[in-house]
Amino acid sequence: MKTIVANWKMNGSLDLLNQAMEAWQLKSGTNKVILCLPSVFLSAAHTLLRQPNFFLGGQDCHAALQGAFTGDTSAHHLYDAGCRYVLVGHSERRQHHHESNAMVKAKAQAAVAAGLTPIICVGESLEQREQGLALSVLQEQVEQSIPDNATDFYVAYEPIWAIGTGRVAALEDIQQVHAFLKQQLGVGVKLLYGGSVTADNHAFILSLENVDGVLVGGASLKIDDLGKMVRF
Ligand code: 13P
Repeated sequence: MKTIVANWKMNGSLDLLNQAMEAWQLKSGTNKVILCLPSVFLSAAHTLLRQPNFFLGGQDCHAALQGAFTGDTSAHHLYDAGCRYVLVGHSERRQHHHESNAMVKAKAQAAVAAGLTPIICVGESLEQREQGLALSVLQEQVEQSIPDNATDFYVAYEPIWAIGTGRVAALEDIQQVHAFLKQQLGVGVKLLYGGSVTADNHAFILSLENVDGVLVGGASLKIDDLGKMVRF
């Protein structure tokens, strides 16, 4: 069984969610699906969710479990809303919100404390890849972003240059990075690939050794496309 994580980012609508839930109701997929929706839709999704292989996830959480942090969402809130997973350290958070590895680690710790499984995102920039630094950047990110005693977590490899560009990483590069991450983190670690995954290319990526699932952005907003990935 593979894991398909859908990250809607700041897209979609309640209307799309209703349509999607209705369409996916009929799918008896074999893959595990984690829907990371905008947080305002999570409670509604929780009441609509009927499929046993579907789970909910947040897109981010605060490092503190509660407090005076206007506008932020805690890991406890996500759990209350029905989530069992949360993305942390997405490159869009690292870039636009200046999140360091230490902050990502603190968020992952908060997630674990609240009963959530963190999906810890890492990935190199195009410049770093072109300079031959991809593996060392990834090594530093995983060393500094994963909580010391964490046992239940995913690591999502998302090369920044592959996100939303239609430029999926070469299969041999995905294979090389995933083999490297398994070697660094142990064979038991669950690894996802993300970056321009579509209904057309997901099967090739999922068939690679050491790829336990995919993290999908744009294509996860297309109801039929996600339906195809669920049934892979
Ligand atoms: P795309 O699938 O749109 O490239 O986005 C990938 C991503 O950032 C998922 O978290």
